[in-house]
Amino acid sequence: MYAFDIHPAAGKSELYAELLKAADALTADEPDGIANMANVAALLWQFLPDLNWAGFYRMVGNELVLGPFQGKAACIRIPLDKGVCGVAARTATSQRIEDVHAFPGHIACDADSRSELVVPVLDEGRVIAVIDLDSPSPARFDLDDQSGVEALAALLASRLG
Ligand code: SME
Repeated sequence: MYAFDIHPAAGKSELYAELLKAADALTADEPDGIANMANVAALLWQFLPDLNWAGFYRMVGNELVLGPFQGKAACIRIPLDKGVCGVAARTATSQRIEDVHAFPGHIACDADSRSELVVPVLDEGRVIAVIDLDSPSPARFDLDDQSGVEALAALLASRLG
């Protein structure tokens, strides 16, 4: 059993520092990338408030394929010219979308989603996956969320193989 001392009510920088520590502890000695993504998706889902989806898409060939996640069943394959995830993967840059209805090409996997944060995971300059967080609240994600999830993506870069 894993029990992490993480306080969702803490300030965001403290919360993300605690999440990063927990993710590090869970993934450091585990070579299986699927297991690592599954545990990190569970951590994000348990400790980040106000989400309706949290998980991974993996770069497989030239498209994104659904990876471990928490939330409702989701679109399985996302071409790189589609959706918030496609833009994040194609441009290798984080996408923080305050209103998904205003984002051209947004893919509605869950009609409840109102805002979204997608952060690419880069291994030696190559996008190998994206971390996708959805919220039912508009403008749920701010720059602190973005840098917190980017730190997580950097930690995971060599651990998703
Ligand atoms: N909304 C995403 C698709 C993935 S789901 O949110 C889980 C997008 O537009 O890429």
